[in-house]
Amino acid sequence: MTLRTVPTKPFDDQKPGTSGLRKKVSVFQQPHYLENFVQAIFNALENCKGKTLVLGGDGRFYNRQAIQTILKMAAAAGFGRVLVGHNGILSTPAASCVIRKHSAFGGIILSASHNPAGTDGDFGIKYNTTNGGPAAEKITDAIYARTRYLQRYYILEADDVPLDTLGQTRLGEMRIEIIDSVYDYAEMMESLFNFAAIRQLCSGNTFNMRFDAMHAVTGPYAHEILEKRLGAPVGTVMNGTPLEDFGGGHPDPNLTYAHDLVETMFSAQAPDFGAASDGDGDRNMILGKRFFVTPSDSLAVIAANARLAPGYHRGLAGVARSMPTSMAVDRVAQALNIDCYETPTGWKFFGNLMDAGRVTLCGEESFGTGSSHIREKDGLWAVLFWLNILAVRQQSVEEILLEHWGKYGRNFYTRHDYENVDSSIAKDIMAQLHTHMATLAGKPFGTRRVAYSDDFSYTDPIDGSVSTGQGMRIGFEDGARIVFRLSGTGTEGATLRIYVEAYEADIAKHTQDTQHALADLIGIANQLSGIREKTGRTEPTVIT
Ligand code: G1P
Ligand code: ZN
Repeated sequence: MTLRTVPTKPFDDQKPGTSGLRKKVSVFQQPHYLENFVQAIFNALENCKGKTLVLGGDGRFYNRQAIQTILKMAAAAGFGRVLVGHNGILSTPAASCVIRKHSAFGGIILSASHNPAGTDGDFGIKYNTTNGGPAAEKITDAIYARTRYLQRYYILEADDVPLDTLGQTRLGEMRIEIIDSVYDYAEMMESLFNFAAIRQLCSGNTFNMRFDAMHAVTGPYAHEILEKRLGAPVGTVMNGTPLEDFGGGHPDPNLTYAHDLVETMFSAQAPDFGAASDGDGDRNMILGKRFFVTPSDSLAVIAANARLAPGYHRGLAGVARSMPTSMAVDRVAQALNIDCYETPTGWKFFGNLMDAGRVTLCGEESFGTGSSHIREKDGLWAVLFWLNILAVRQQSVEEILLEHWGKYGRNFYTRHDYENVDSSIAKDIMAQLHTHMATLAGKPFGTRRVAYSDDFSYTDPIDGSVSTGQGMRIGFEDGARIVFRLSGTGTEGATLRIYVEAYEADIAKHTQDTQHALADLIGIANQLSGIREKTGRTEPTVIT
């Protein structure tokens, strides 16, 4: 085996986004493209000698090739040990769990989350640190800086490592352990939730559920946990076989893309509970019988009922939500008398708060919920939390929500996405909004008046780091909000996200249709941004 030093030239597009580096597969397939980025990670880490790395991905096309390359580069960088998921598979939450459980130095996760996969699809790579969470901006900035002047990378010339046999092998001096992709994660879930109560619910004949793995990574996890350990009937897990192209689908668990599940859950014979997870297993969607739970409400309900799960019976240290996420959880935090933090979009901003013990529970409106059990959001964990709540409360999903709104009031919430907008038009819209921000405070819009408007910036309360330009927000005096942001995860054109929220205390109005309840605010958002005139679009690409 020889160590090769390969001369290369920097690529100028390797700046990590909201969640690592995401590009079209064809971009990653360019000679040296993946290698450059991996070398930049290793260079930014400085000393990898003898350390333990975790490696796995969501199984999408190019996962296996990338793993072979990364193993050979890790050996060249001097890592002592790499834990690799069986067949290269680790869901994002499982990777976080494995990093923490085995006290690894860090991990490389290969995923483009919910973005479509296959030869024409997307691929992605991100680095997680020793706490199991996505690298903080300081590190992703350091990686990016290294990509800008990289001149060479190091790789061991060796045969490919078989990924399909559990157990140990070596690559040069480096030990490789092929580990069961599900085991550590499933054990952790058993330690957090009341499996006996959930088993009784799932294996009985009065309760019926479906879980849609969307042909992505959660299939094996859901089969093992829901069907094997919790006794849900075989067939509970839909689309449970992971495919390299996710079956041609778009594995984003929302009302638009999880159509198989949505059809079932809104049919006449709908099961009692439905859930789905995304490409890499960190997102979740929760549905009741003909009933959709917004991720923001799901976070609030979990916060309010956290003590029902054994892993959380002592209560929550605090909660955190990303800025555009609805303020429903703020009301629960207030009632519980615990802190509620508002962070920029992206899971990496929760890491410091969890490490410092300030928060237990975190969530984003983008179908992401999780807790300090790991440092990633966690799809199946959220599903199990809901099952735990349902098993203890013996009520339907809808009953639980109606009661919740009755107690705390309802935060009506929607997000309108305009995907694949011409980048320069999107920039222009944001620049114009930016100039508006300084002038809106005090202005009336219909029955509402603007209380504040700004471009959100965040100072991390733990390390003092400042993140600016995190989205334009307009807050009204009655608690309603409009937020505008550009996506940081897309790979084609720009995606403009418009988030709209209004608080309703009146119980008689809680069952209104969301789009109807928010119609006036949606109108204001459209008018302020000029999105429809400037893009020629008549409606959003996706409404959640
Ligand atoms: C999106 C979501 C964000 C989430 C991220 C990674 O990022 O909006 O909440 O953390 O995916 O799953 P965006 O495309 O908006 O930058
Ligand atoms: Zn994901």
